[in-house]
Amino acid sequence: MSKVISKFVPAQRVTEMSLSSTLAVMQKADTLKRAGKDVIDLGAGEPDFNTPEHIKQAAHLAIDENFTRYTPTAGTKEVKDAIINYIASETSTRYEPSEVVVSAGGKQTIFNALLTLINPGDEVLLPAPYWVTFPEVVTLAEAKSIVIDTEPTNFQLTAEQVKASISPRTKLLILNSPSNPSGRIVSPTEFKAIAELAVEHNFFILSDECYYKFVYPPHKTFSAASLSKELRTNILICGSLSKTYAMTGWRLGYALGAKEWISEMVKVQSHSTSNPSSIGQRAAIAALSSPQNTVEEMLAEYKKRRDYLIPALNSISGIECVEPEGAFYAFPNIKKIIENNSQVKTSDQLAEYLIDQAYVALTAGSAFGSEGYLRISYATSLETLKQGVERISACVEKLIK
Ligand SMILES: Cc1ncc(COP(=O)(O)O)c(C=O)c1O
Repeated sequence: MSKVISKFVPAQRVTEMSLSSTLAVMQKADTLKRAGKDVIDLGAGEPDFNTPEHIKQAAHLAIDENFTRYTPTAGTKEVKDAIINYIASETSTRYEPSEVVVSAGGKQTIFNALLTLINPGDEVLLPAPYWVTFPEVVTLAEAKSIVIDTEPTNFQLTAEQVKASISPRTKLLILNSPSNPSGRIVSPTEFKAIAELAVEHNFFILSDECYYKFVYPPHKTFSAASLSKELRTNILICGSLSKTYAMTGWRLGYALGAKEWISEMVKVQSHSTSNPSSIGQRAAIAALSSPQNTVEEMLAEYKKRRDYLIPALNSISGIECVEPEGAFYAFPNIKKIIENNSQVKTSDQLAEYLIDQAYVALTAGSAFGSEGYLRISYATSLETLKQGVERISACVEKLIK
Protein backbone atom coordinates (compact mmCIF):
# COMPACT_ATOMS: atom_id res chain seq x y z
CA MET A 1 0.00 0.00 0.00
CA SER A 2 1.36 3.48 -0.83
CA LYS A 3 2.11 5.74 2.10
CA VAL A 4 -0.78 8.09 2.99
CA ILE A 5 0.38 11.67 3.31
CA SER A 6 -1.83 14.02 5.29
CA LYS A 7 -2.89 17.15 3.43
CA PHE A 8 -3.49 18.94 6.73
CA VAL A 9 -2.08 22.45 6.85
CA PRO A 10 -2.74 24.33 10.09
CA ALA A 11 -4.46 27.72 9.98
CA GLN A 12 -2.11 30.67 10.17
CA ARG A 13 -3.41 31.79 13.56
CA VAL A 14 -2.24 28.48 14.98
CA THR A 15 1.13 28.33 13.25
CA GLU A 16 1.99 31.59 14.97
CA MET A 17 1.31 30.02 18.38
CA SER A 18 3.63 27.69 20.23
CA LEU A 19 3.00 24.83 22.64
CA SER A 20 3.01 25.90 26.27
CA SER A 21 6.68 25.70 27.26
CA THR A 22 5.82 24.89 30.86
CA LEU A 23 3.82 21.90 29.63
CA ALA A 24 6.73 20.98 27.33
CA VAL A 25 9.07 20.83 30.38
CA MET A 26 6.53 18.66 32.21
CA GLN A 27 6.40 16.31 29.22
CA LYS A 28 10.18 15.98 29.04
CA ALA A 29 10.39 15.35 32.80
CA ASP A 30 7.65 12.74 32.44
CA THR A 31 9.44 10.92 29.62
CA LEU A 32 12.64 10.78 31.68
CA LYS A 33 10.75 9.57 34.75
CA ARG A 34 9.12 6.81 32.72
CA ALA A 35 12.59 5.81 31.54
CA GLY A 36 13.48 5.29 35.21
CA LYS A 37 15.49 8.50 35.74
CA ASP A 38 15.44 10.20 39.12
CA VAL A 39 14.02 13.55 37.99
CA ILE A 40 13.72 16.54 40.32
CA ASP A 41 10.73 18.37 38.95
CA LEU A 42 10.84 22.10 39.63
CA GLY A 43 8.99 22.89 36.42
CA ALA A 44 5.37 22.33 37.25
CA GLY A 45 3.23 25.25 38.39
CA GLU A 46 1.08 22.84 40.33
CA PRO A 47 0.54 22.48 44.09
CA ASP A 48 1.91 19.21 45.46
CA PHE A 49 -0.92 19.11 48.02
CA ASN A 50 -4.02 16.98 47.66
CA THR A 51 -7.42 18.59 47.26
CA PRO A 52 -8.76 19.06 50.83
CA GLU A 53 -11.12 16.33 52.09
CA HIS A 54 -14.23 18.50 52.54
CA ILE A 55 -14.02 19.57 48.89
CA LYS A 56 -13.72 15.97 47.72
CA GLN A 57 -16.67 15.00 49.95
CA ALA A 58 -18.86 17.62 48.26
CA ALA A 59 -17.96 16.14 44.88
CA HIS A 60 -18.75 12.59 46.06
CA LEU A 61 -22.12 13.81 47.27
CA ALA A 62 -22.83 15.55 43.94
CA ILE A 63 -22.27 12.24 42.13
CA ASP A 64 -24.36 10.28 44.63
CA GLU A 65 -27.18 12.77 44.21
CA ASN A 66 -26.90 12.48 40.41
CA PHE A 67 -25.91 16.11 40.06
CA THR A 68 -24.32 15.05 36.82
CA ARG A 69 -26.23 16.90 34.11
CA TYR A 70 -25.75 20.12 32.16
CA THR A 71 -26.07 23.27 34.25
CA PRO A 72 -26.56 26.86 33.05
CA THR A 73 -23.55 27.79 30.87
CA ALA A 74 -22.27 30.45 33.28
CA GLY A 75 -22.61 28.12 36.30
CA THR A 76 -25.42 27.41 38.75
CA LYS A 77 -26.94 30.14 40.89
CA GLU A 78 -25.41 28.41 43.93
CA VAL A 79 -21.84 28.45 42.65
CA LYS A 80 -22.19 32.05 41.48
CA ASP A 81 -23.52 33.00 44.92
CA ALA A 82 -20.58 31.23 46.56
CA ILE A 83 -18.14 33.25 44.40
CA ILE A 84 -20.03 36.50 45.04
CA ASN A 85 -20.08 35.89 48.82
CA TYR A 86 -16.40 34.92 48.83
CA ILE A 87 -15.34 38.09 46.98
CA ALA A 88 -17.64 40.19 49.18
CA SER A 89 -16.07 38.74 52.32
CA GLU A 90 -12.57 39.41 50.98
CA THR A 91 -13.14 42.90 49.55
CA SER A 92 -16.61 44.07 50.61
CA THR A 93 -17.61 44.48 46.95
CA ARG A 94 -20.72 42.52 46.02
CA TYR A 95 -20.98 41.59 42.34
CA GLU A 96 -24.33 40.77 40.69
CA PRO A 97 -24.93 37.25 39.31
CA SER A 98 -24.98 38.78 35.79
CA GLU A 99 -21.41 39.96 36.44
CA VAL A 100 -20.07 36.43 37.04
CA VAL A 101 -19.20 33.56 34.71
CA VAL A 102 -17.76 30.23 35.83
CA SER A 103 -15.54 28.37 33.38
CA ALA A 104 -13.39 25.26 33.01
CA GLY A 105 -10.35 26.85 34.65
CA GLY A 106 -8.85 30.31 34.78
CA LYS A 107 -7.30 29.64 31.40
CA GLN A 108 -10.71 29.41 29.76
CA THR A 109 -11.87 32.69 31.32
CA ILE A 110 -8.76 34.42 29.96
CA PHE A 111 -9.32 32.88 26.55
CA ASN A 112 -12.99 33.95 26.54
CA ALA A 113 -12.11 37.41 27.81
CA LEU A 114 -9.63 38.14 25.03
CA LEU A 115 -11.68 36.64 22.23
CA THR A 116 -14.68 38.77 23.19
CA LEU A 117 -12.78 42.05 23.56
CA ILE A 118 -9.93 42.16 21.10
CA ASN A 119 -10.09 43.00 17.41
CA PRO A 120 -7.33 42.24 14.91
CA GLY A 121 -4.69 44.95 15.14
CA ASP A 122 -5.52 45.99 18.71
CA GLU A 123 -2.62 46.35 21.12
CA VAL A 124 -2.43 44.44 24.39
CA LEU A 125 0.02 45.64 27.05
CA LEU A 126 1.90 42.78 28.62
CA PRO A 127 4.30 43.38 31.50
CA ALA A 128 7.30 41.00 31.22
CA PRO A 129 8.04 38.55 32.62
CA TYR A 130 4.55 37.31 31.74
CA TRP A 131 2.75 34.01 32.09
CA VAL A 132 3.38 31.98 28.92
CA THR A 133 -0.27 31.78 27.89
CA PHE A 134 -0.92 35.53 27.66
CA PRO A 135 0.96 36.35 24.43
CA GLU A 136 -0.33 33.17 22.77
CA VAL A 137 -3.97 34.13 23.32
CA VAL A 138 -3.19 37.65 22.08
CA THR A 139 -1.78 36.06 18.90
CA LEU A 140 -4.84 33.86 18.53
CA ALA A 141 -7.01 36.98 18.78
CA GLU A 142 -4.87 38.47 15.95
CA ALA A 143 -3.80 41.34 18.15
CA LYS A 144 -0.34 42.65 18.99
CA SER A 145 1.41 42.21 22.34
CA ILE A 146 3.23 45.32 23.49
CA VAL A 147 5.69 44.05 26.05
CA ILE A 148 6.55 46.25 29.04
CA ASP A 149 9.96 45.28 30.36
CA THR A 150 9.87 45.46 34.17
CA GLU A 151 13.46 44.29 34.66
CA PRO A 152 14.70 47.85 35.36
CA THR A 153 12.38 48.04 38.40
CA ASN A 154 13.19 44.52 39.61
CA PHE A 155 9.95 43.23 38.07
CA GLN A 156 7.79 45.64 40.02
CA LEU A 157 5.35 47.17 37.52
CA THR A 158 4.78 50.91 37.82
CA ALA A 159 2.03 53.15 36.43
CA GLU A 160 4.78 55.17 34.77
CA GLN A 161 5.91 52.12 32.77
CA VAL A 162 2.32 51.45 31.70
CA LYS A 163 1.79 55.09 30.71
CA ALA A 164 4.87 55.05 28.50
CA SER A 165 3.45 52.11 26.49
CA ILE A 166 -0.08 53.43 25.87
CA SER A 167 -1.02 54.21 22.26
CA PRO A 168 -4.34 55.01 20.54
CA ARG A 169 -4.57 51.28 19.70
CA THR A 170 -4.21 50.09 23.31
CA LYS A 171 -7.23 47.96 24.13
CA LEU A 172 -6.17 45.90 27.10
CA LEU A 173 -3.55 45.56 29.82
CA ILE A 174 -3.01 42.16 31.38
CA LEU A 175 -1.99 42.24 35.04
CA ASN A 176 -1.03 39.18 37.03
CA SER A 177 -0.33 39.91 40.66
CA PRO A 178 1.20 37.96 42.38
CA SER A 179 3.06 37.12 39.21
CA ASN A 180 3.83 33.84 37.60
CA PRO A 181 6.84 33.71 37.08
CA SER A 182 8.43 36.50 39.16
CA GLY A 183 6.39 36.21 42.36
CA ARG A 184 6.27 40.01 42.47
CA ILE A 185 3.10 41.90 43.36
CA VAL A 186 1.72 45.17 42.01
CA SER A 187 1.30 47.41 45.04
CA PRO A 188 -2.28 48.61 45.71
CA THR A 189 -1.19 52.22 45.18
CA GLU A 190 0.37 51.41 41.82
CA PHE A 191 -2.62 49.25 40.86
CA LYS A 192 -4.98 52.13 41.55
CA ALA A 193 -2.84 54.53 39.51
CA ILE A 194 -2.84 52.02 36.62
CA ALA A 195 -6.63 51.61 36.87
CA GLU A 196 -6.95 55.41 36.67
CA LEU A 197 -4.87 55.36 33.47
CA ALA A 198 -7.24 52.75 32.03
CA VAL A 199 -10.25 55.00 32.65
CA GLU A 200 -8.44 58.09 31.35
CA HIS A 201 -7.13 56.40 28.19
CA ASN A 202 -10.12 54.15 27.66
CA PHE A 203 -8.58 50.72 27.74
CA PHE A 204 -9.44 47.62 29.77
CA ILE A 205 -7.56 45.64 32.39
CA LEU A 206 -7.64 41.90 32.84
CA SER A 207 -6.56 41.22 36.41
CA ASP A 208 -5.47 37.60 36.63
CA GLU A 209 -5.81 36.83 40.34
CA CYS A 210 -4.97 33.15 40.14
CA TYR A 211 -2.42 33.46 43.02
CA TYR A 212 -4.44 36.05 44.96
CA LYS A 213 -4.34 34.12 48.25
CA PHE A 214 -0.64 33.32 48.12
CA VAL A 215 0.97 36.50 49.41
CA TYR A 216 3.66 36.38 52.10
CA PRO A 217 3.57 38.72 55.11
CA PRO A 218 4.19 41.61 55.53
CA HIS A 219 2.55 41.98 52.12
CA LYS A 220 -1.22 41.77 52.00
CA THR A 221 -3.63 40.18 49.55
CA PHE A 222 -5.10 42.65 47.08
CA SER A 223 -7.92 42.17 44.59
CA ALA A 224 -9.00 44.68 41.94
CA ALA A 225 -12.49 44.01 43.32
CA SER A 226 -11.63 46.32 46.20
CA LEU A 227 -11.22 49.34 43.89
CA SER A 228 -14.00 51.93 43.50
CA LYS A 229 -16.95 51.16 41.22
CA GLU A 230 -15.75 53.77 38.73
CA LEU A 231 -12.31 52.18 38.41
CA ARG A 232 -13.76 48.67 38.26
CA THR A 233 -15.90 49.40 35.18
CA ASN A 234 -12.86 48.74 32.96
CA ILE A 235 -11.56 45.76 34.90
CA LEU A 236 -12.26 42.08 34.46
CA ILE A 237 -11.06 39.82 37.28
CA CYS A 238 -10.08 36.27 36.37
CA GLY A 239 -9.91 33.89 39.32
CA SER A 240 -9.14 30.21 39.65
CA LEU A 241 -9.61 27.46 42.21
CA SER A 242 -6.65 25.51 40.81
CA LYS A 243 -3.87 26.81 43.01
CA THR A 244 -5.82 28.16 46.00
CA TYR A 245 -7.45 24.82 46.77
CA ALA A 246 -5.03 22.43 45.02
CA MET A 247 -7.69 21.71 42.42
CA THR A 248 -5.72 21.88 39.16
CA GLY A 249 -7.36 18.79 37.70
CA TRP A 250 -10.90 19.88 38.50
CA ARG A 251 -10.85 22.78 36.03
CA LEU A 252 -12.71 25.55 37.82
CA GLY A 253 -12.20 29.25 37.24
CA TYR A 254 -14.35 32.36 37.14
CA ALA A 255 -14.50 35.91 35.86
CA LEU A 256 -16.07 38.98 37.42
CA GLY A 257 -16.73 42.16 35.51
CA ALA A 258 -19.15 44.36 33.57
CA LYS A 259 -22.25 42.36 32.64
CA GLU A 260 -21.91 43.44 28.99
CA TRP A 261 -18.46 41.78 28.76
CA ILE A 262 -19.51 38.75 30.84
CA SER A 263 -22.55 38.05 28.66
CA GLU A 264 -20.34 37.93 25.54
CA MET A 265 -18.02 35.51 27.32
CA VAL A 266 -21.00 33.33 28.21
CA LYS A 267 -22.05 33.40 24.55
CA VAL A 268 -18.63 32.11 23.42
CA GLN A 269 -18.55 29.50 26.18
CA SER A 270 -22.07 28.31 25.32
CA HIS A 271 -20.72 27.23 21.92
CA SER A 272 -17.50 25.67 23.18
CA THR A 273 -17.44 23.83 26.52
CA SER A 274 -20.89 24.92 27.81
CA ASN A 275 -20.94 24.80 31.62
CA PRO A 276 -17.95 23.84 33.75
CA SER A 277 -18.28 20.36 35.31
CA SER A 278 -21.43 20.09 37.44
CA ILE A 279 -19.50 18.06 40.04
CA GLY A 280 -16.68 20.59 40.06
CA GLN A 281 -19.19 23.38 40.71
CA ARG A 282 -20.42 21.60 43.84
CA ALA A 283 -16.82 21.12 44.94
CA ALA A 284 -16.17 24.83 44.31
CA ILE A 285 -19.08 25.80 46.57
CA ALA A 286 -17.54 23.72 49.38
CA ALA A 287 -14.10 25.25 48.74
CA LEU A 288 -15.27 28.86 48.75
CA SER A 289 -17.87 28.62 51.51
CA SER A 290 -15.97 26.65 54.16
CA PRO A 291 -13.35 27.93 56.61
CA GLN A 292 -10.13 28.67 54.72
CA ASN A 293 -7.68 26.87 57.08
CA THR A 294 -6.31 24.62 54.33
CA VAL A 295 -5.35 27.69 52.30
CA GLU A 296 -3.57 29.15 55.32
CA GLU A 297 -1.74 25.86 55.85
CA MET A 298 -0.58 25.71 52.24
CA LEU A 299 0.59 29.34 52.39
CA ALA A 300 2.61 28.62 55.56
CA GLU A 301 4.24 25.65 53.84
CA TYR A 302 5.08 27.66 50.69
CA LYS A 303 6.61 30.34 52.91
CA LYS A 304 8.85 27.78 54.60
CA ARG A 305 10.04 26.59 51.21
CA ARG A 306 10.60 30.12 49.92
CA ASP A 307 12.56 31.01 53.04
CA TYR A 308 14.86 28.05 52.39
CA LEU A 309 15.08 28.38 48.60
CA ILE A 310 15.97 32.03 48.03
CA PRO A 311 19.07 32.18 50.28
CA ALA A 312 20.11 28.74 48.97
CA LEU A 313 19.94 29.98 45.37
CA ASN A 314 21.78 33.18 46.25
CA SER A 315 24.59 31.12 47.74
CA ILE A 316 25.30 29.53 44.31
CA SER A 317 27.89 31.58 42.52
CA GLY A 318 26.50 33.24 39.39
CA ILE A 319 22.90 33.19 40.64
CA GLU A 320 21.04 36.19 42.05
CA CYS A 321 17.45 35.86 43.18
CA VAL A 322 15.05 38.50 44.46
CA GLU A 323 12.67 37.33 47.19
CA PRO A 324 9.20 36.60 45.78
CA GLU A 325 6.33 38.38 47.55
CA GLY A 326 3.71 35.88 46.46
CA ALA A 327 2.83 32.81 44.33
CA PHE A 328 5.23 29.84 44.47
CA TYR A 329 7.96 30.61 41.96
CA ALA A 330 11.52 31.84 42.23
CA PHE A 331 12.90 33.68 39.19
CA PRO A 332 16.68 33.75 39.58
CA ASN A 333 18.95 35.86 37.40
CA ILE A 334 21.51 33.56 35.76
CA LYS A 335 23.22 36.12 33.50
CA LYS A 336 26.58 35.72 35.20
CA ILE A 337 26.51 32.01 34.34
CA ILE A 338 25.64 32.33 30.67
CA GLU A 339 27.70 35.44 29.88
CA ASN A 340 30.87 34.33 28.14
CA ASN A 341 30.17 30.65 28.80
CA SER A 342 31.38 28.29 26.10
CA GLN A 343 28.71 25.63 26.70
CA VAL A 344 25.50 27.47 27.60
CA LYS A 345 24.73 30.91 26.27
CA THR A 346 20.98 31.26 26.84
CA SER A 347 18.45 30.43 29.55
CA ASP A 348 17.01 27.75 27.23
CA GLN A 349 20.40 26.11 26.92
CA LEU A 350 20.93 26.23 30.69
CA ALA A 351 17.50 24.67 31.34
CA GLU A 352 18.31 21.99 28.77
CA TYR A 353 21.73 21.41 30.34
CA LEU A 354 20.22 21.02 33.81
CA ILE A 355 17.67 18.44 32.73
CA ASP A 356 20.15 16.51 30.58
CA GLN A 357 23.06 16.55 33.02
CA ALA A 358 21.34 16.59 36.41
CA TYR A 359 17.74 15.58 35.71
CA VAL A 360 16.48 18.85 37.16
CA ALA A 361 13.41 20.12 35.31
CA LEU A 362 12.75 23.85 35.34
CA THR A 363 11.71 26.51 32.84
CA ALA A 364 13.84 29.01 30.93
CA GLY A 365 13.09 32.69 31.49
CA SER A 366 12.84 33.23 27.73
CA ALA A 367 9.45 31.44 27.82
CA PHE A 368 8.20 34.30 30.01
CA GLY A 369 9.72 37.05 27.88
CA SER A 370 12.75 37.59 30.16
CA GLU A 371 16.01 36.14 28.87
CA GLY A 372 18.73 35.60 31.48
CA TYR A 373 16.46 34.00 34.09
CA LEU A 374 15.11 30.61 35.13
CA ARG A 375 11.78 29.84 36.73
CA ILE A 376 11.85 27.44 39.64
CA SER A 377 8.57 26.22 41.09
CA TYR A 378 8.65 25.59 44.83
CA ALA A 379 5.30 23.84 44.84
CA THR A 380 7.22 20.75 45.83
CA SER A 381 8.55 19.28 49.10
CA LEU A 382 11.44 20.89 50.97
CA GLU A 383 13.35 17.63 50.56
CA THR A 384 12.98 17.74 46.77
CA LEU A 385 13.94 21.41 46.72
CA LYS A 386 17.12 20.69 48.69
CA GLN A 387 18.13 17.94 46.28
CA GLY A 388 17.33 20.21 43.34
CA VAL A 389 19.47 23.04 44.71
CA GLU A 390 22.37 20.62 45.33
CA ARG A 391 22.23 19.37 41.77
CA ILE A 392 21.92 22.86 40.28
CA SER A 393 24.84 24.04 42.39
CA ALA A 394 27.07 21.14 41.28
CA CYS A 395 26.16 21.69 37.61
CA VAL A 396 26.75 25.43 37.75
CA GLU A 397 30.11 24.91 39.44
CA LYS A 398 31.17 22.66 36.58
CA LEU A 399 29.95 25.15 34.02
CA ILE A 400 31.71 28.23 35.34
CA LYS A 401 34.93 26.51 36.30
C1 LIG B 1 -0.85 33.23 35.95
C2 LIG B 1 -1.80 32.13 35.71
N1 LIG B 1 -3.05 32.42 35.34
C3 LIG B 1 -3.96 31.47 35.10
C4 LIG B 1 -3.63 30.14 35.23
C5 LIG B 1 -4.70 29.15 34.88
O1 LIG B 1 -4.97 28.21 35.80
P1 LIG B 1 -6.21 27.24 35.61
O2 LIG B 1 -6.59 27.21 34.16
O3 LIG B 1 -5.72 25.92 36.08
O4 LIG B 1 -7.31 27.82 36.44
C6 LIG B 1 -2.33 29.77 35.60
C7 LIG B 1 -1.92 28.36 35.68
O5 LIG B 1 -0.78 28.00 35.71
C8 LIG B 1 -1.40 30.79 35.87
O6 LIG B 1 -0.15 30.52 36.27
